[in-house]
Amino acid sequence: MKFSRLAEQTEASPILAVAAAINARKQQGETIYNLTVGDFDPAIFPIPQALTEAIIRAYRARHTNYPAAAGLPQLREGAASMVNRMCGLDYQADEVIVASGCRPLVYAVYRSLVDAGDTVIYPVPSWNNENYTAMVGARAVAVETTAANHFMPTAEALAPHLKDATLVALCAPQNPTGTLFSKQNLVAICEQVIAENRRRGRQQKPLYVLFDQVYWALTFGTATFHHPAAVCPQIREVAICVDGISKAFAATGVRVGWATGPRAVLQKMSSIIGHIGAWAPKPEQIAAGAFLADRPAVGRHLAQFREQLQARLNEFHAGFMALKGNGYAVDAIAPQAAIYLSVRIAIQNRDRNRTRGAGANQLDGEHAVQEYLLNEAKIGILPFSLFGAKNHHDWFRLSVGTCSQEEIPDVMANLQAALEKLS
Ligand SMILES: Cc1ncc(COP(=O)(O)O)c(C=O)c1O
Repeated sequence: MKFSRLAEQTEASPILAVAAAINARKQQGETIYNLTVGDFDPAIFPIPQALTEAIIRAYRARHTNYPAAAGLPQLREGAASMVNRMCGLDYQADEVIVASGCRPLVYAVYRSLVDAGDTVIYPVPSWNNENYTAMVGARAVAVETTAANHFMPTAEALAPHLKDATLVALCAPQNPTGTLFSKQNLVAICEQVIAENRRRGRQQKPLYVLFDQVYWALTFGTATFHHPAAVCPQIREVAICVDGISKAFAATGVRVGWATGPRAVLQKMSSIIGHIGAWAPKPEQIAAGAFLADRPAVGRHLAQFREQLQARLNEFHAGFMALKGNGYAVDAIAPQAAIYLSVRIAIQNRDRNRTRGAGANQLDGEHAVQEYLLNEAKIGILPFSLFGAKNHHDWFRLSVGTCSQEEIPDVMANLQAALEKLS
């Protein structure tokens, strides 16, 4: 062993590796519709102009020294003000800490609460929990979800595992599925956690819940995001909610995130983040704080951003439904939130002959389907297995963050032709 055990077992993200391979092919001149990334093309989805200008102003005003460890007061207030006014809550600024995006905050939640050998529960498919769990040396309990429940974990599915756990890591809207908790299910989950902590009493480490909510402001149509603290106030004692500007404001490269939660937990997280130095840059903090507090500016941005994302997701969904109606072996869940569509493409050997587009072929496994679609249809999408799911070999994540509306008919025509070839 040449490196630490942690380094030996930590792999680079396979998701980023897929995107890098596609980009390399694009640079060679190939036309590929890259629907794999959880990111945005800034030429299509720029950050709000007011945010850009405020960042530049802050650099010109030389706000370039270290920021306060837990984040600048104006950003902690700005983040609290947005969450409070949009979710009907009353977080104080000192119940918010800041870091350079959601990732260091999620890592700090794991590091602050979970010891090696502790148990972490998370649903699959979900984003990155297996890596965070491995990094802290915890025991993972991956709870499989079902298409019927939109791939969200139910209170019943989580219940048997709570007794031995330290952390339940949840995400809504969920990456990779673009789906939400129903209010009823979220309340039931929170009540179970509260009941488990009552059972443990004050001597034992409580069961904590991480809610990764970075996509919460991107909901569509009648789909509603329920903030856990709004539907179950008591959960605030053990709930850490992670959020940021990365997705709602298409600002993945700007690196500003925040967490709300119990003050004592936040203090520990802040110490860990401080030692890593994962603060958000000070000019970005100043700009984001002012922007988030500006209700009309946030409202205008979100209205147009949601509309553009929803139009793309709806068009893809309609395309999949049309193919399904014509007997092809595909399906999709109606868009609810985030930048993702859950799509089913059942063309592996094991799905053979059930429907059109699943004739005899050599497609063994979801990675073969992924490769086939890439080579034959020039479409890049990601199988749910890359998000830890074992049971959903024919479901994939389709992202619209780098997709222009005009290219959707071409993508769907390519998909149909590739399916037809297998018939
Ligand atoms: C659910 C979820 N949480 C967090 C992140 C990372 O957020 P950030 O870029 O703010 O670190 C992502 C990115 O894809 C995500 O999907």
